[in-house]
Amino acid sequence: MDADLRGDMKPPNIVILTGAGISQESGLHTFRDGDGLWAKHRIEDVATPEGFARNPALVQGFYNARRAQLRDPAVQPNAAHQALAELEAHWPGEFLLVTQNIDNLHDRAGSSRLIHMHGELAKARCLRCHAVTVADGDLTPESACPECGAAGKLRPHVVWFGEMPLQMERIGAALDACDLFVSIGTSGAVYPAAGFVQEVRHRADTLELNLEPSEGSHLFDEARHGHATQLVPGFVREMLAKWG
Ligand code: APR
Repeated sequence: MDADLRGDMKPPNIVILTGAGISQESGLHTFRDGDGLWAKHRIEDVATPEGFARNPALVQGFYNARRAQLRDPAVQPNAAHQALAELEAHWPGEFLLVTQNIDNLHDRAGSSRLIHMHGELAKARCLRCHAVTVADGDLTPESACPECGAAGKLRPHVVWFGEMPLQMERIGAALDACDLFVSIGTSGAVYPAAGFVQEVRHRADTLELNLEPSEGSHLFDEARHGHATQLVPGFVREMLAKWG
């Protein structure tokens, strides 16, 4: 990374984007790999507002199964989640972690300057009062909202295809101010996240850390390919040795 070669001795402002690949070694399936979730489930059935309207029981069941995995004691934050929490804790510049993941492994690793742009599995949203509440157990089409008591109005607090990701203004401001953008464990197939590298590449350094080249790999200044639990701690060690 050549942020310090720009004649600018201030630590770079960092934005990190993560995707399902960072949680793969914690035992959670990605979406688009051979054994990924989208090989077994139809996106239009389980990840669209229309699918939910058609068959809420199917959709709630799909997310209940994902939630049950998060309760499995074997599913824990891995060395990559932990390294990013450590980077945040010691970083002298601005730092924002934007995740597309709806799992809670970044939170459990201790990250707090964190945006879940695609929502959170362990939360539900009420279609009547709009309250977002904790939902770490199963939801059914009859579940009542803990806030307003309405039955049958809770949906997973997850951004589906065709819906607007969360906190885009805050993400946009961080991207505008960032000097280093790092994309980790994402295939670069889903916008707007896949477009972040194009937004920043003319004024920020860009780095991809992924098992294999993503769809937009050629857009990054540098790409390192391998497992997140190897690549991310190595990257964090480098950054903290230089600036921490
Ligand atoms: N370490 C690093 N990268 C990995 C690892 C690993 N251990 N395992 C897999 N990967 C990489 C894959 O090579 C792939 O490029 O992670 C990427 C995962 O890509 P996707 O399955 O497409 O997941 P993601 O990019 O997060 O998907 C984006 O699509 O449907 C949705 O809303 C869902 O947030 C998700 C969005």
